Amino acid sequence: MENGKCRVCVTGAAGFIGSSLVKKLLEKGYTVHATLRNLGDASKVQLLKSFPHADTELVLFEADINRPDEFEQAIHGCMCVFHVATPLQPSDASQFKNTSEAAVSAIKSIAECCTKSGSVKRLIYTASVCAASPLKDDGSGYKESIDETCWTPLNLSLASSNGFFKDYTVSKTLAENEVLGYGSSEKDGGMTVVTLACGIVGGDTVLSYTPGSVAAFISQVTHNAHSYRSVKYAEELLGKLPIVHINDVCEAHIFCMEKPSISGRFLIASAFVSAAQLAGCYQLYYPEFNVKAEKLDGAKGDAKWGSTKLIEKGFEYKSDLKMIIDDSIRCARRTGDLQH
Ligand SMILES: NC(=O)c1ccc[n+]([C@@H]2O[C@H](COP(=O)([O-])OP(=O)(O)OC[C@H]3O[C@@H](n4cnc5c(N)ncnc54)[C@H](OP(=O)(O)O)[C@@H]3O)[C@@H](O)[C@H]2O)c1
Repeated sequence: MENGKCRVCVTGAAGFIGSSLVKKLLEKGYTVHATLRNLGDASKVQLLKSFPHADTELVLFEADINRPDEFEQAIHGCMCVFHVATPLQPSDASQFKNTSEAAVSAIKSIAECCTKSGSVKRLIYTASVCAASPLKDDGSGYKESIDETCWTPLNLSLASSNGFFKDYTVSKTLAENEVLGYGSSEKDGGMTVVTLACGIVGGDTVLSYTPGSVAAFISQVTHNAHSYRSVKYAEELLGKLPIVHINDVCEAHIFCMEKPSISGRFLIASAFVSAAQLAGCYQLYYPEFNVKAEKLDGAKGDAKWGSTKLIEKGFEYKSDLKMIIDDSIRCARRTGDLQH
């Protein structure tokens, strides 16, 4: 898996993580089968086709999680599949009753295609750290630290939650749990499965708009109350905010593809801070944005980051919190979400 010119598949290729991952894979010499929901969406198609080497090394496919069989063609002939796409809203036209059912069904269909393909050696799922809450099942507070052994209890009821956050958290938890059931037995034909449970992803983007997670990450300086709500939810769910740069997320995906022997679950974040600590960083580095005093006041949190699994495998994070902040601010200035 180490040299270029191998064929790989990326689902959700036109999203924030998907587009940066496709660009990096093309730069590294891979041939990429990229899926998006609608090949008639000219802006998404043009963006992907504008990447260096896309003219010869990028093949686009249409596939929707609500019709899971559609991924088969894109997977055919690939040696690795990055399953990045996730359903964020239930679809009226769907055979599934909610996003969790759709996400789990897509995992089954994609994993079965991979094992039948004879070519796929590794399936890498872009999971979320929201599936790894260190909250205790009995609601009596947080475990000592957050690491790969933590799984979010499905019946959680949190003060800062809403229907969207709850559905997303349950869907990511069930989907990750489902995909980890593959890749361990003989019937899976030697395919291994990796899940990368990413923290809040910040940094700049190839997209023309500020991605949702970047908008949340900088919500203390944009004063966007809607985006800030997801920060408060993440903090309540996880004890503090796990944060990671988009470049490190993409490099971690590629690292896990190229590593000859690796499988299982990995948490991905290079910083773990409270919302109040993050607000303090904005006040220090970007005083011109006037962070509101109440944002600086929250609890500093005593949750600890306990995950070292990927680093022990040899992965190195290249971006610290300051770099993630700087690149996220640059992104929002470029897209016009920050005026100065
Ligand atoms: N950003 C973060 O902070 C973060 C953190 C942890 C985990 N993740 C995970 O990373 C993945 C990508 O997230 P992102 O931040 O890049 O979000 P994003 O920009 O909103 O991208 C979501 C992608 O999912 C695709 N998608 C949505 N509904 C779909 C459906 N029914 N069928 C097929 N594809 C569908 C979209 O495809 P179209 O473009 O074709 O509509 C889009 O490419 C997700 O699995 C997310 O859970 C993200």
